[in-house]
Order: sequence, then C-alpha cells, then structure tokens
Amino acid sequence: MKIVLIGYMGSGKTTIGKLLSKKLNINFIDLDAYIESKLNLSVSDIFKDRGEIFFRKMEHKYVQELMEEKKSFILSTGGGTPCYANNLALIQKHTKHNFYLKLSIPSLVKRLINEKESRPLVQNIAENDLPEFIGKHLFERNNFYLQANTTIVCDTKIPEDIVNEILENLK
Ligand code: S3P
Repeated sequence: MKIVLIGYMGSGKTTIGKLLSKKLNINFIDLDAYIESKLNLSVSDIFKDRGEIFFRKMEHKYVQELMEEKKSFILSTGGGTPCYANNLALIQKHTKHNFYLKLSIPSLVKRLINEKESRPLVQNIAENDLPEFIGKHLFERNNFYLQANTTIVCDTKIPEDIVNEILENLK
C-alpha cells in the first residue's frame, strides 16, 4: 500500500506521515529528504546553486522512481509536488490513498512564520507580507490540491485526530 500526503508548506505532511508510519508499521519517506540524500545537497542549496527548474526536474524524477516501486510506503511530498510536471496524475495512477492536508491561510501563516528559514520559496518574504503571499500562492495551487482523493481539514485538529481520520479512510 502507498499513502501519499500532499498540501502546502507547513501543513504537517511530515509530522502526520511519521505518526501514520508508526501506526501502520509502514516505511515513511519524506520526498525532500529523499531528494537531498540522492543529490547530497539540501533543498535550500539545490534552489540556490541549481535553481528551481532543476529542483522540479529532480522532484519529478524521484516521484516517478518512488511510484514505480513495488514496496509499501507513506510519502510526504513537497508543497509544490502535485502542481508540477504530471506528478499528481502519476501519484493518482499508483494509489488512491492520496490525502490533502488542508489548512486555512491564517493557520499556515502562524506555522510558517517560525519555519521560514529552511524553505527557499518563503525565506525572503517579510513576516508582514506572508498572509498575502500565501493567499495568492494557495489560490494558484488549490486547484491541484483539491484533486486529492480525500481532503482532510486540519485547522482545529490535533495530529492524532488527523491520523485517525486517515486510518478510517483506509478501511
Ligand atoms: C516547496 C515546498 C518544500 C520543498 C521546496 C518547495 C513548494 O517542501 O519541496 O522548498 O514548492 O511548496 P515542504 O512542503 O515540505 O516545505
């Protein structure tokens, strides 16, 4: 079984993926960490040294590689993964267990204010400009995220509740 988590930066894909992995005893893979280990470079350095287009090519290459694997895993994608190349179609071709972890703009702003540094796309956005930036970015990306087989509204839920909702959905 393959489970894929999608959603905007800061939506909790990695946290939820790790918890799910413990519950189901299935291997957890974080796509960004996977790319970093393959290239031996951090995502920030890939963006800085090679640019975003190169990152998107690598993201696509490794989504493809992972989706073609026979083994089970839980994959937390990057915030942009479903929005580029044909990654979303590829994911959906290989698993119906794809979940959009949805958060409101204010919740995302709250989280990303403290986690900007490791994320090249928001690193240089001033705190005051984050709500507008995220609002526009989410507007562009929503169309992709909302194509996930299941949307989980996460704003008021603790991680355990989100995990349970996903587990219910797998039944
Ligand atoms: C990106 C999100 C990041 C990472 C890269 C690009 C995006 O992953 O893949 O910085 O386009 O939204 P997280 O969603 O884990 O922050």
